[in-house]
Amino acid sequence: QLNDLAVRAGLLYFGTAVGESASGSDSAYAAIVNNKSEFGQVVPENGQKWDATEPSQGRFTFTSGDITANIAKRNGQYLRCHTLVWHSQLPSWVSSGSWTRASLTSVMEVHIENVMKHYIGQCYAWDVLNEAVADSGAWRDSVFLQVFGTDYFPLSFNLAKKYDPDTKLYYNDYNLEYNGAKTNKAIELVQIIQNAGAPIDGVGFQAHLIVGSTPSRANLATTLRRFTSMGVDVAYTELDIRHGSLPAASSALVTQGNDYANVVGSCLDVDRCVGVTVWGYTDKYSWIPSTFPGTGDALIYDSNFQKKAAWTSVSSVLAAA
Ligand code: G3I
Repeated sequence: QLNDLAVRAGLLYFGTAVGESASGSDSAYAAIVNNKSEFGQVVPENGQKWDATEPSQGRFTFTSGDITANIAKRNGQYLRCHTLVWHSQLPSWVSSGSWTRASLTSVMEVHIENVMKHYIGQCYAWDVLNEAVADSGAWRDSVFLQVFGTDYFPLSFNLAKKYDPDTKLYYNDYNLEYNGAKTNKAIELVQIIQNAGAPIDGVGFQAHLIVGSTPSRANLATTLRRFTSMGVDVAYTELDIRHGSLPAASSALVTQGNDYANVVGSCLDVDRCVGVTVWGYTDKYSWIPSTFPGTGDALIYDSNFQKKAAWTSVSSVLAAA
């Protein structure tokens, strides 16, 4: 089973995101999520985001986030926590407010304090800052960038450290895997945080990838090392590899398996790559078809909870380490 193999191979965990509604209503889904030998780490797919935890100012609700936190507690799985500062799933009272530096700092501090204190002692890592770089390699436009410029990067990490000094503090983003302009900008982001004297422990590579366009194991490892050489951990935090068209040909299923093996293999090749998390594990539930219609089947189990070729590739690459 994947987590057992991953731990034997020297990783801290092999994990999955947990869909909050599926975990409560689909017992076949829940049985696999609760199997620590398969998934040694869980992360809430949506339940800890700002729109879920503080939908209106100063009113906090943790019902959804607690679903996954309680799964982790019950099974002794690591919990990754996701996410504190993000331009998306940000309630409009934040994104459309008219803020000064002082008033938005206070809004961020109240949010971070309440959410982190609720989960204190439970999170192996927190995605403090999510997706602050645009695909073009510019800084991502958001209310935070407009009010603070890049000062909100160190601000976010300093606030997070203040309210949970013991969790690992991560920057998390997608398309860093291609080692292009966006990757360069993420390197700059880490430098800005470090140069400001703020704490950052890790960089999460989301790895929302495409079958046949996934970089090689060696190139992925090279990209991970650009970050670990700055003194931070890395992890694959939201791995899925989608087919560009469906149904997938049998050759595409083989390619998908190879792509998965390259990603997991690159983590095994890099000393400070701590683990791999898939963004959901079954094609029955995935964010992809609604966002990229006509594409999908991106995960390691099919919609009937049968293991796919991609599962076998992952298990083989872990077993070979
Ligand atoms: O909860 C409401 C429900 O009440 C309503 O009836 C329903 C109708 O559309 O929407 C539900 O909210 C949806 C939510 O998922 C929970 O299912 C939102 O519309 C939908 O936009 C939201 O999508 C999530 C997406 O983030 C939002 O940006 C996906 O599930 C989630 O997988 C995805 O995850 C992100 C990571 O957090 C960050 N990296 C990229 C990744 C993929 O986009």
